[in-house]
Amino acid sequence: MNRVNLGSELSLSQIIYGMWRLGDDSDSSPKHVEAKIQACLEQGITSFDQADIYGGYASEAILGTALKQSPALRNKMEIITKCDIMLLSDKFPDRSVKYYDTSAAHINTSVDNSLSNMSIDHIDLLLLHRPDPLMDHHETGAALDALVQLGKVRGVGVSNFMSHDWALLSSAMKSPLLSNQLEISLLNSEALTDGTVADLQRQAIHPMAWSPLGGGQLFDSSDERCANLRVALGDIAKEQSVDISSVAVAWLLKHPSGILPVMGTNNLDRIKQLGQAIEVDLSREQWFVLYEAAVGHEVA
Ligand SMILES: NC(=O)c1ccc[n+]([C@@H]2O[C@H](COP(=O)([O-])OP(=O)(O)OC[C@H]3O[C@@H](n4cnc5c(N)ncnc54)[C@H](OP(=O)(O)O)[C@@H]3O)[C@@H](O)[C@H]2O)c1
Repeated sequence: MNRVNLGSELSLSQIIYGMWRLGDDSDSSPKHVEAKIQACLEQGITSFDQADIYGGYASEAILGTALKQSPALRNKMEIITKCDIMLLSDKFPDRSVKYYDTSAAHINTSVDNSLSNMSIDHIDLLLLHRPDPLMDHHETGAALDALVQLGKVRGVGVSNFMSHDWALLSSAMKSPLLSNQLEISLLNSEALTDGTVADLQRQAIHPMAWSPLGGGQLFDSSDERCANLRVALGDIAKEQSVDISSVAVAWLLKHPSGILPVMGTNNLDRIKQLGQAIEVDLSREQWFVLYEAAVGHEVA
């Protein structure tokens, strides 16, 4: 598995394992969570993606319980987590609306909660989860810089930011923003053409791709586009003796910006195969066969 240097002495595995769905698994015991982590580590997948809100504010603690039982795992992992989305939840009965909060007070509280929930003493990469129209970039930037200075987080970045959101926040920061986690897949490839990824590529910033398999739609949607894509993916998968998800991930890995896919399967057998995508060799023509099947027409 390739390592990708994000700068600030932080490197991640090229494929990341996402823990959004951790609590949806019928087995979320520490033993099973550890088995998933071990299956990743055995393939060189050392980077794990969390958020304060995942699983209705429960996923970080599920990971934390597993790490408490097997503390030796922590030093083999890079842990990414996020903050700023304020969900309507039984846990916060006073909230009347879903909203975003990038105030220094909320970022600090959220980081402290994440550290405590995951039983860790630092976060490797903290991301702002969504751009907040009320973000005061000076306040938010200073809060993120201070967390790096304090050593509570090794690096900071963002998620779902447009280029202008990124430019605004970076203009008020001393620490570099290290990545932007975006929705990118064959089913949602706008970021590749709307300037968001191009702007990161110009700055040599690696984007992360969330829901790289369209959140599973690639496999279970009956719409014509997905059906055509499955055929196109299947032809290449057969030729290279891999499964179709590996080809869909290889399509992302082929992009010259150095995309880091964040994989979300809960299935242990599928987790054991995640590294296979690295071996897939897509030609430029094969890339466009998949792209055209995905957008539903020939390129102009
Ligand atoms: N920053 C953000 O705003 C944001 C938003 C969403 C997600 N994320 C991150 O991205 C990660 C990945 O998102 P995701 O879970 O939507 O990613 P995904 O990998 O695109 O989708 C995972 C889903 O696809 C299914 N799947 C995978 N391989 C399959 C196969 N071969 N056949 C049938 N079904 C298959 C999985 O079911 P099984 O479990 O049964 O395999 C699971 O339900 C999350 O965990 C989270 O860390 C970030």
